[in-house]
Amino acid sequence: MDLLIENIKGLVKSDHAHNSPVTSFDLGRLDVLENAYVIIDQGLIHSYGSMTELPELRPKQTIDAHERFVLPSFVDSHSHIVFAGSRESEFVDKIKGLSYAEIAKKGGGILNSAKLLRQTSAEELYDQALARVYEVISQGTGALEIKSGYGLRLKDELKMLRVAQKLNATTPLTIKTTFLGAHAFPLDKSRDAYIEEILQEMIPQVAQEGLAEYCDVFCEHGFFTQEESERVLNEGLRYGLKPKVHANQLNLSGGVQAGVNVNAVSVDHLECIGEDEINCLQQSSTIATLLPGAAFFLNLPFPPARNLIEAKLPIALASDYNPGSAPSGNMGLILSLACIKMRMSPMESLNAATINGAFAMEVNDTLGTITPGKVANLFVTKPIPSINYLPYAFGTNLISTTILNGQVV
Ligand code: NIG
Ligand code: FE
Repeated sequence: MDLLIENIKGLVKSDHAHNSPVTSFDLGRLDVLENAYVIIDQGLIHSYGSMTELPELRPKQTIDAHERFVLPSFVDSHSHIVFAGSRESEFVDKIKGLSYAEIAKKGGGILNSAKLLRQTSAEELYDQALARVYEVISQGTGALEIKSGYGLRLKDELKMLRVAQKLNATTPLTIKTTFLGAHAFPLDKSRDAYIEEILQEMIPQVAQEGLAEYCDVFCEHGFFTQEESERVLNEGLRYGLKPKVHANQLNLSGGVQAGVNVNAVSVDHLECIGEDEINCLQQSSTIATLLPGAAFFLNLPFPPARNLIEAKLPIALASDYNPGSAPSGNMGLILSLACIKMRMSPMESLNAATINGAFAMEVNDTLGTITPGKVANLFVTKPIPSINYLPYAFGTNLISTTILNGQVV
């Protein structure tokens, strides 16, 4: 046996693999075993149980988790962590009163990051993203989806995706990639010309090189219309890229409908949704991924999590880590925002950030819960009085040890 964690005050575990995301009443339930141990072997969760029944064994390594909790690592199913530089000057513009849409119109926003990214070499981009990867690992993240979308031309979109894949190959984080060429319109060509480039050059090349598993579109007023979004997503599907959508962040954009029409894995954001969107989602198996960090940073109304939970819809929580609307990948903070601003309970927020995130990233068979046979991605907290303390003590990093693929990071 490789690793024993013993004397755990509370182990958040799950006896069974889930067949579907956790919803409704179940979203608020976590199975916590008190005074527990967990055994990890060959990168996997081997077994767990009560300390009173700890079998005799000689593990290579032992961690004493006295007064500490052990939880599954966060599965952050929406990020743009490969980006160049930062945009704190726009942050100041926002404080002075400019909206996200106004900044984008001035050539700021996504186009600002695209300009920087095009000037940045793949090596430099990798180094910058690598630092962010280790930052989020230290904050409890074990799996991360990464989108392109700051290249806005073939070679730079490919550059971003290759960097994301290199991060997957060279770090302990489990990473999946998403092609988001349809993130904004570049200034150097017409709208139609750019859409044709996405359809005829980018999607085929991304698919041929196996650079992404998903295709995403920013369906929003001033960006891609519902019709354009569906065109891009359908073409992606033809090449085997599964759809995801940036939907209804700033307006009733038709993004939810676009996502449901193409049977998207998830529709993400949803700050701006009503009854129609909720009804539409109820006819689908699409996951609603909420990104409270972006709503917080942009001062937007928060997504109506309680309505979604009451409608029995599957919801996931993710960071949206990006330079323009959410310059943080801290999932602990995401839990706090979900509790404080969206009235989710701590248990609901934890399930949404672990097992439901795993469904949104389609890694639910191997990640998202502490279950025998799954990959050993988990963290040990600092001494804390209860699990509720995690989102309560917002802004504090309460993680003491991170284990990814069975190894202490
Ligand atoms: O998810 N909404 C579009 N994309 C990002 C923001 C990107 C940016 O501003 O750089 C988001 O919020
Ligand atoms: Fe995003």
